[in-house]
Amino acid sequence: MTARRALVLGGTGMLAGVAAALLDDGWQVVLPSRRRPSMPTTNGHLASWVKADWTEPAALVATVSEALDGPADLLVAWVHREVRVSVLRAVAPLLADGAPVVEVHGSASANPLGGCPDPILPGHPTQQVVLGYVRHAGRTRWLTHEEVSAGVLDAVHRALDGKPPHVHQVGEFRGVAH
Ligand SMILES: NC(=O)c1ccc[n+]([C@@H]2O[C@H](COP(=O)([O-])OP(=O)(O)OC[C@H]3O[C@@H](n4cnc5c(N)ncnc54)[C@H](OP(=O)(O)O)[C@@H]3O)[C@@H](O)[C@H]2O)c1
Repeated sequence: MTARRALVLGGTGMLAGVAAALLDDGWQVVLPSRRRPSMPTTNGHLASWVKADWTEPAALVATVSEALDGPADLLVAWVHREVRVSVLRAVAPLLADGAPVVEVHGSASANPLGGCPDPILPGHPTQQVVLGYVRHAGRTRWLTHEEVSAGVLDAVHRALDGKPPHVHQVGEFRGVAH
């Protein structure tokens, strides 16, 4: 059976744990980024890294398309706000019909809650993840990469279960009491 294909944009940094978990589940994972990462590999599966830059979406689509070798069944996107619309629209034709999208937004997109940008790919149910902070002993800190990846994987599983689009908050937001 052909492995399901996932395209993970921005997947070589704090989302490396997401790519590794997908590989572990038998997915073929394509990771475009500017710098070659130490490649995630689990259970003998190796992610396909391709050199690509969000600022050149046409070239990114060409290299990703070759690496995917078929329509992607999942898109996970952690892309800077300034280029998210151009990059997501560019890669949309690489997705299978109805393939879900999981989009990750930094804290600045939380406004403080509910201010996350609208999904932009019609026909692709989109789970949105907004990253917050962890408050501990009167201080705040960033989420760890593990906390971020765990939150994004929750959204990935909701997406793959066909759950309705939802905004997932990971951590807390400044000025919001819990
Ligand atoms: N609220 C929060 O908790 C929160 C929110 C945001 C960030 N953070 C923290 O901030 C730290 C740094 O975040 P970060 O933004 O550097 O994220 P990151 O996930 O560590 O790295 C950014 C990812 O995007 C890729 N990328 C960046 N620019 C690109 C481009 N022009 N074209 C293609 N790919 C590109 C990078 O690969 P290449 O560099 O190889 O291209 C990498 O895969 C994280 O460690 C995280 O803990 C926390």
